[in-house]
Formats: sequence, structure tokens, C-alpha cells
Amino acid sequence: MKYSGYAYIYTIGCQMNVYDSEKLALILDSHGYEKTEDMDKADIVVCNTCSIRHKAEEKAFSFLGRFARIKKKKPHLITVMAGCVAQQEGEKAFARVPHLDVVLGTQAFSRFGGIIDAVKSGKQKVVDIEDSSMIYEALPDTSCFDENKSSKFVTIMQGCDNFCTYCVVPYVRGRERSRSPESIVKEITWLAAAGVKEITLLGQNVNSYGQKEDQISFPQLLAEVNEIKGIYRIRFATSHPKDLSNDLIYAIRDLDKVCNHLHLPIQSGSNKILKKMNRGYTREKYMDRILSLKKECPDIALSTDIIVGFPYETREDFNDTMNLLREIQFDSIFAFAYSDRSSAPAAKFPQQIAEAKKRERLNHLLELQEYYTEKKNKEQVGKILDVLVEGKSGKKRDGFDYAANNMEQMKGRTESNKIVHFPSRDTVIGDMIKIKIENAYLHSLWGHPLGV
Ligand code: 5AD
Ligand code: SF4
Repeated sequence: MKYSGYAYIYTIGCQMNVYDSEKLALILDSHGYEKTEDMDKADIVVCNTCSIRHKAEEKAFSFLGRFARIKKKKPHLITVMAGCVAQQEGEKAFARVPHLDVVLGTQAFSRFGGIIDAVKSGKQKVVDIEDSSMIYEALPDTSCFDENKSSKFVTIMQGCDNFCTYCVVPYVRGRERSRSPESIVKEITWLAAAGVKEITLLGQNVNSYGQKEDQISFPQLLAEVNEIKGIYRIRFATSHPKDLSNDLIYAIRDLDKVCNHLHLPIQSGSNKILKKMNRGYTREKYMDRILSLKKECPDIALSTDIIVGFPYETREDFNDTMNLLREIQFDSIFAFAYSDRSSAPAAKFPQQIAEAKKRERLNHLLELQEYYTEKKNKEQVGKILDVLVEGKSGKKRDGFDYAANNMEQMKGRTESNKIVHFPSRDTVIGDMIKIKIENAYLHSLWGHPLGV
């Protein structure tokens, strides 16, 4: 195909946005735009935005703000704000970014092609924040734009019905809708044929996959994906603790490709705070799920999300969260200071916590978790683990003389999602190899491939 211009896509936020940006790239491709990593070459710039926290939102505005000057020199440049901030701001985005051409909401992606055509023929300041029930079915199947990737995300559902009081997702991504199993299996089969080895299935609450549509359940979907030839590993995110079923636990235990790792966001260790967050479970119910999981899958790696400094959080509530980390000993955590989102109910709660206090608590929590992350990593030393090769790694470790050995340092991931660095002469992206783990650090493991 002959291209008539270049497209630069900047993605902020979660894995779902990464997947969405690939879809946008495909639409741009079919409209004559070649993807570029060089912003200066761009004829169209798309910023795929995130509004989960204030900082992510500011990042979008500051990125797009840079183009005011560039557009003066390059008037044909089209600038697009896509995704969650676009959905949230609508028309108002033009007040903050006057040179913006398109505001493309989260459910408008299937109409993006038509919008580009309209802008190219002179239409100005287009806003599309309308609903759509067919979100992914109407979009092109993912292609391997990034040929160097052995791992890909596939979104299986959109939106959320849970309305946690801190969260904007139900407002910017709409109500929960699931894709058909056929379209998911078709897309993954296609990806497998293109060389992808690992799939991460994405949804805000994968446990309720297909329930509204009266389709197969999430564990049944996992079983179908497990049958796809060429796929070595299946991951998924995110599970909601209130809906984590025994069937899902059995699926993790029994399906050979489903990784022995679960990301299960707890958000807080205090029952009072969990209630104010509208999470729908208690600390005890969460612990019960973890115990069931560990009974069936004793070596399972666990990760979680935590918010500190939620309104009403006292020192005791925060200590409950610290103690929960001590009790469960997660392999890793994602921790955030609570960020006020005006469309979410918690913004109106009294007793907001001072920013400095939130930062202090966050630092305390992260410091405690570092101990457990390193401990869990050290437990891997001496083990022989299957590692899916992801590519070359930048950091050199352990004083190994790569040049003298005619080797390169590569990196890959274990089933438990830990990064492993290793020396190698002939492994390539997508290989699954056995590595003897020799050293462990806070952020990664180090070892040698067997037989080298
Ligand atoms: N402030 C801070 N963190 C948030 N998250 C969601 N909303 C907010 C907010 N308003 C976190 C939750 C969620 C993760 C994706 O982002 O921990 O699980
Ligand atoms: Fe947000 Fe809660 Fe839905 Fe997760 S489950 S997307 S935190 S509302």
C-alpha cells in the first residue's frame, strides 16, 4: 500500500489503551498513514489518553499542548485526543487545547476512519463521544505492527458496572459489555499464526465476562483459548475479588497455558475504607479467596493494587493495609496515592487526606513491599524456570564478560511474571527456554540458560 503521510501515536495509561492504540494504528494504516516513532515526521498525531488519576490527565494535556507551535509551521498536521480524557472532556477539550482537531471518545473508535476523511476535507473541531454497543467487533483484527512482540493484549470486555467510589472508569468507558467468544478466539488464532506466544486477556472485571450477554463464562473462555495452537501462555487482568469464582481457581490450576499468577486488586486492608470505596467485599472475604487459591495452586504468584490516602483513611486504616501486605506477602504491588476525580463520588467525601500525608503513606507502603518483592525473588534462586524470551536487555549484570563469550544479554519473563536477564548466543524473541536462576534482585532475576 502506498502511504500518503505519517502517524504518531502516543499512549498513556493501562494495557487496554495499548490495545486500543493498535486498533487506531490499523485504522490510520487503512487511511494511508504509516506509523512512525519520529514525532517530527508526523502528519497526524493521536494522543490516547487516561483519566484514572490527575497526573495521567495532565500528561495528555501537556503532550498535546506542544503541538500549538508545531501546527503553526505545519498547518496540515491533524491532532487527535482519543480515549478516556476525550470522553470525559468532550467539547471542553478545545478550551484547553485550542489547536486540537478531533476529540475521539472511548466508544467512537469504529467511526475514526470517517472522521479522518471529514477532517481532511476541511471539517473542523470534530467531537464524537457517542455510545456504541459494538466496540471491538467493528474494528479491524489486531495485526503485528510490532513484529518484535511475543506477547499481546486482547481486550475481551469494555466498561464497568461496579462503581467503586474513587473510579472514573464506569463514567468514561460506560457500562460493561463483553465481546463474543468467537471474535476473541478468531483474533487470538490470527495472532498465534503471526507468531505471538503469550496473550493477556483484558477487561475491568473479567470474572463477569459474558454474564450479561448470556455467553460462555470466563473460565470457559480460558478453556477455549487454551486450545489455540501456537499460544504458550495465557494471562488475564483484572479480577475483582468479589466475583473470583472457584471455577476460575480450578481453571488456573488445570489449564496448562494459564499462568500461575493472579492480579487481584485489594485497594485497602481496612473494612471501613473498603466499604466507603464500595468494593463489595471485606478483608476477610479477600483472605478467604486467597486461601482457596493457595490451596489449589500452592505456588501461585500474587499481585495487587492499593490506594492510600482515600478519604477517611486514618493511621489505623493505613496500618491495616500495611499488615495485610505482611500477611499475604504479594510478589508485587501497584500502589497509588488517591487522586480526586470530579466525576467519581469520592470527590465529594469530606475528610480528604492532605497530599503530603498521602505521599508519606505511599512511601511507607512501597518501602515495606520492596522487602517482600525482593524476598519472593530470592526464593527463585536455584530453581529452573521456563522463560519466554522478550528481547535484548539493556542492563548488564554480574560482571559477566559478554563480548569475550560472544554473547548478548537477553531478557524474558517467568510464568509468575518476573523479569529474568540471561546471557545468550542464539535465542530469539518468542523462544521458551529453561533458565537456572542464580541471582535475585529487587526488580529482576539473573540466570543461565540450561546447557550454556
Ligand atoms: N486514585 C488513585 N488510584 C486509582 N485507581 C483507580 N482510581 C484511582 C484514583 N482515583 C487505581 C486502582 C485501580 C488501578 C487501575 O488504579 O488501584 O485498581
Ligand atoms: Fe473502577 Fe472499580 Fe470498575 Fe475497577 S471495578 S474499573 S476500580 S469501578
